[in-house]
Amino acid sequence: MCSEERATWRDLGAVIVDCGGQGSVKRLISIKMELTITQPDDWHLHLRDGSLLEAVLPHSAKHFARAIVMPNLKPPITTTAAAVTYRESILKAIPKDSNFTPLMTLYLTDVTTPDEIKLAKKSGLVYGVKLYPAGATTNSQDGVTDLFRNCFSVLEEMSEQNLPLLVHGEVANSDVDIFDRENVFIETILEPLVQKLPQLKVVMEHITTADAVKFVESCKEGYVAATVTPQHLLLNRNALFQGGLQPHNYCLPVLKREIHRQAIVSAVTSGSKRFFLGTDSAPHDRHKKECACGCAGIYNSPVALSLYAKVFEEAGALDKLEAFTSFNGPDFYGLPRNKSKIKLRKAPWKVPDYFSFPFGDIVPMYAGETIEWEALPC
Ligand code: DOR
Ligand code: ZN
Repeated sequence: MCSEERATWRDLGAVIVDCGGQGSVKRLISIKMELTITQPDDWHLHLRDGSLLEAVLPHSAKHFARAIVMPNLKPPITTTAAAVTYRESILKAIPKDSNFTPLMTLYLTDVTTPDEIKLAKKSGLVYGVKLYPAGATTNSQDGVTDLFRNCFSVLEEMSEQNLPLLVHGEVANSDVDIFDRENVFIETILEPLVQKLPQLKVVMEHITTADAVKFVESCKEGYVAATVTPQHLLLNRNALFQGGLQPHNYCLPVLKREIHRQAIVSAVTSGSKRFFLGTDSAPHDRHKKECACGCAGIYNSPVALSLYAKVFEEAGALDKLEAFTSFNGPDFYGLPRNKSKIKLRKAPWKVPDYFSFPFGDIVPMYAGETIEWEALPC
């Protein structure tokens, strides 16, 4: 089954009577079907460093073959040399039985040079340059203060070198309402950017609004695309306040209204090649989330694939899931699709309340809840 070329289905309903012991009967009764797909990649991931890296990497490596690794460490990864060193530390932390490959990125600053872009491309290890508007999110203080004034020659070089710009698409001005920051970014930065540099590849990361969907769909296919997270597909802004303040649902860009969530679900389940999987899984120690000034970031690596399957099933679009998880991303980046496979089985499992490590606990998305789909390596 796992060696087949395309997504395949199996109805497992008939297995129930054959499965013996009482515990396993109970479990199998709830299995309805199994889907085998090309192994997905995560096109937007925060792996951190040190003991946090060692703690979270196995969760990503269990399900994803490759990941675009975000550079917002302290200090940020602003040079190819730093990206190479960071990559070495990731390689050391990969579990022995895993085929996981990190795809590195650079953190764009006001002083990044075109020569650094040439070096990055030449290394063969850097796959994108991340734009954090200064002050927009976690560890963005070294980000860009004026993209067109300070970075234009760098953007031209990226266009020349075919190195994608990965965009945190929010303005950081405190006079702009937090729910409008993506919109204002599209109008003031992205629209002029694609006009000025139509050959530059741009990934609008973690889109959250109908406006972002409309913008991406208005651009030339193959040049502008978007990643979409599980949280922005499943939760709206009510989830931040359900029964009290919910810090584990706080991320940036912040969750939006239900109409926006629905627009994003429609976009990804339409089969469009412009949208692909990027979890934005962003672990923080529980104490940095459950406190007076909690960090932005949702840890979803262990549950992301199950949750994407849930979204596509609920939209009646499971036949479009594999393109979103496993084809559109590599096709946009000009990389080969994975040969390996992964199984998605319709079988309920309970998400742990938290993952415990020597340095502290990390609370995952959907903690303590039951999810219908389980992802299993082939
Ligand atoms: O919620 C977020 N967390 N959004 C980001 O842009 C950064 C991320 C993090 O690094 O924690
Ligand atoms: Zn991110």
